[in-house]
Amino acid sequence: MIQRVATVAFEGVNARPVDVQVHVAPGLPAFTIVGLPDKAVTEAKERVRAALIASGLALPARRITVNLAPADLPKEGSHYDLPIALGLMAAIGAIPADALDSFTVVGELGLDGSIAAVAGVLPAAIGANARGHGLICPAACGAEAAWASPDMAILAPVSLIQLANHVTGRQVLARPDPRLKGARAGGPDLRDVKGQETAKRALEVAAAGGHNLLYVGPPGSGKSMLAQRLPSILPPLVPAEMLAVSMIASVAGAIEDGALVDRRPFRAPHHSASMAAMVGGGLKARPGEVSLAHLGVLFLDELPEFSSQVLDSLRQPLEIGEVAISRANARVTYPARFQLVAAMNPCKCGRAGEAGFVCKRGPRCADEYQARLSGPFLDRIDIHLEVPAVTAADLVLPPPQEGSAEVAARVAAARDLQRARYAALDRPDIATNAEATGPLLDLVARPDATGQALLREAAEAMRLSARGYHRVLKVARTLADLSGAETLGRAHLAEALAYRALADKPRAAA
Ligand SMILES: Nc1ncnc2c1ncn2[C@@H]1O[C@H](COP(=O)(O)OP(=O)(O)OP(=O)(O)O)[C@@H](O)[C@H]1O
Ligand SMILES: [Mg+2]
Repeated sequence: MIQRVATVAFEGVNARPVDVQVHVAPGLPAFTIVGLPDKAVTEAKERVRAALIASGLALPARRITVNLAPADLPKEGSHYDLPIALGLMAAIGAIPADALDSFTVVGELGLDGSIAAVAGVLPAAIGANARGHGLICPAACGAEAAWASPDMAILAPVSLIQLANHVTGRQVLARPDPRLKGARAGGPDLRDVKGQETAKRALEVAAAGGHNLLYVGPPGSGKSMLAQRLPSILPPLVPAEMLAVSMIASVAGAIEDGALVDRRPFRAPHHSASMAAMVGGGLKARPGEVSLAHLGVLFLDELPEFSSQVLDSLRQPLEIGEVAISRANARVTYPARFQLVAAMNPCKCGRAGEAGFVCKRGPRCADEYQARLSGPFLDRIDIHLEVPAVTAADLVLPPPQEGSAEVAARVAAARDLQRARYAALDRPDIATNAEATGPLLDLVARPDATGQALLREAAEAMRLSARGYHRVLKVARTLADLSGAETLGRAHLAEALAYRALADKPRAAA
């Protein structure tokens, strides 16, 4: 007889159903797993054997074949241990054969029969719920699975014995409750930054509209400090966004204690990051930094130090909000709608542009340093800002009155305006001005007469690209939202154009 247990294989953040078929037949004792298993799945044999013995059961001295169907879909990861073990237990009569009907099973086994946490429980639970199944998952992941639906059955045992006791009615397992990890208080606050009012204003605008931002300035002027304070002024995720972000975190195995977080992700990879680490990939086509920063911030400090290939690989996700990874054994798409914040020095020595400073290497120093960034990459950044060195006069001042809480309130109000506007236009999928494109942008960002004239003149004088033109409109829309204005005035466009000016004249920064 063949015993069947349902489980899943992951393709990006989607869970595809996989059927575990366990066949116990007379013959010489053997244990084989077929159906394109990777190394971790083949090793399941040893863990299952030991876990069953630790639970007081023994593998029958017969010929055991486990098939993972569909046979042409590669199976990766350690979450096949538990479905294989349960299939075997049902086949030898240790648990009732129908106990696993209408359950999807994921989990890794320890040699002592304990069930260890695995990645991807949230997408597995959502997939199971869509098929009308319940979920059996490790105890450590129960709270995460409970987010999928309030009504689905979820069993989250700590060990094989506990699960066997539940299905045979000797001990009842309670359904786990969904858990939310509250915001951590005491993060860095904007109040710590003295002076730099323009840079703070740009940070507020970027946060309000989800715009990409680049700070250029000498060492020690506070660029990294400002960027690290961006999370403190961003609004929390709404529930649908939280689920989308957590799906990616779950597949990456980055959910701690099964609790989801409603804070926007803030990812700051080091500049030695490889292409696979940044956009995703590797053997298992795992999500990269751009996807882990989905609906949050990707902060690239010391921008020109990143390899130019890695930076150019960001061009596609920056434009379309997702990244497609093709490998020999996989082709998956991950969402990657992130806000890029970057910081750099104007040149290698960092002092170009300083009054009275003459670099020995002349203008070449700055030219060569900035040439590491490609034009199309820079074109995707809406706000370019020069951050001058802080003066001693600024540093001795008392801390500014306004901190992150006040700025966050203005950002939240502007974001509410945007969400309401795009929902009214039947585009609830758009949350920020940065995401509005083409015709929609023309509709929502219409300058008044004086603004129109300024924009036409400036677009010609600055030789704005079509993308540059649209990005100026988006930033101007955000500026109007921050001031509560309906139409885009001349002042909004002038400020937006000023943020753009540096992009089209990179040497001016030096
Ligand atoms: N505006 C400021 N107000 C208060 N402290 C500041 C300010 N700017 C810089 N500092 C101090 O200088 C330190 C260095 O700042 P930060 O790391 O942000 O510089 P940076 O601009 O990123 O420099 P680099 O180009 O070398 O990376 C901060 O930790 C802080 O102590
Ligand atoms: Mg820095």
